[in-house]
Amino acid sequence: MTQKTFVNPIAWKKDRIRIIDQTKLPVVLSYEDCQSVSDVWWAIKKLKVRGAPLIGIAGALGFLLGMQKTKSRDPRILLATAKRLKVYLNSSRPTAVNLHWALSLVFKVVEENQNKPKLEMILALKKEVERIIHEDVQMCFQMSAYGSRLVKSGDSLLTVCNAGGLATSGYGTALGVFYRAKEESKKIKVYACETRPLLQGARLTTWELMHNHVDVTLICDNMAADLMRRKKIDAVFVGADRIAANGDFANKIGTYSLAVAAWYHKIPFYCVAPFSTIDMSLAEGRLIPIEERGAEEVVSLYFKKPIAPKGIHVFNPSFDVTPASLTTAIITEQGIIRPSFRENLKEIYGYVAKKS
Ligand code: MRU
Repeated sequence: MTQKTFVNPIAWKKDRIRIIDQTKLPVVLSYEDCQSVSDVWWAIKKLKVRGAPLIGIAGALGFLLGMQKTKSRDPRILLATAKRLKVYLNSSRPTAVNLHWALSLVFKVVEENQNKPKLEMILALKKEVERIIHEDVQMCFQMSAYGSRLVKSGDSLLTVCNAGGLATSGYGTALGVFYRAKEESKKIKVYACETRPLLQGARLTTWELMHNHVDVTLICDNMAADLMRRKKIDAVFVGADRIAANGDFANKIGTYSLAVAAWYHKIPFYCVAPFSTIDMSLAEGRLIPIEERGAEEVVSLYFKKPIAPKGIHVFNPSFDVTPASLTTAIITEQGIIRPSFRENLKEIYGYVAKKS
């Protein structure tokens, strides 16, 4: 029943990585080739590739590209290169833990194969990256199926940023729930928050949902609470960039205010993310590193027209943290996790660790 969505935001092309340049959407669907590790670093930094799971995949592919391009066959040099690549790619964006997660997996492959011929090491790396990508799609399908159980036909659902096929290897987390609900013939209506400053909701979520024939309506961020008051929203589904051990989670700036408004209006608020987004090493959300980005994103409308006076002071945190107490459930490929998150995440984490 489930299929990939219509776009493939990233692909390995022998000696380069082909990405959709998401900064150009929705005006043009254009592809760009990253030919070096630094191209990949910049593509992540500039949000040409974005969304927590996709950043992880881009990092892993960038690592593979870097290892493949290394001329040396000396195991010590290869290991030193791998260490450098891991640190470098991980420095592109700090909040999404998926980047660190995917880079740790590919680095482990280099460690395990360090005494084998280079070609063998590269083949093992390719296999691992393919596995990560394949697993991402499967996880998206699985969590979407769980999430869809919480959707009734006739529901109006709200989302923020883009947690769809463009943010993963092709199906999505929060948007995956909507695709799945639709595939199950449920009649749904989606409201997409525009998501200032970089408008991932307006540019990407609406584009993606429209192309997949999901009934979507765009709203400005500051309209969400009013829609809830008018009883136009039945549930909120959002993605996550990092979930702490107690269930607090970081997601695109604006998520927290949606959670507060949903709590006030007694509307269920769901976080949809793969298990790899959970960072059990952080006890609570205030420990999650929050990326701050440049003023230019706020003072001009998508880098084009100025919309604020020159020289204005700007604060531009890219993410906020929603406390676990405002979250109805966290939906992962392992199932629907309800409070108490600290106990339940610990138990499921133990079970997942034992299985792998
Ligand atoms: O800055 P972005 O566009 O990378 O932010 C993305 C988000 O906040 C998404 O909601 C999150 O990464 C989940 S994507 C499945």
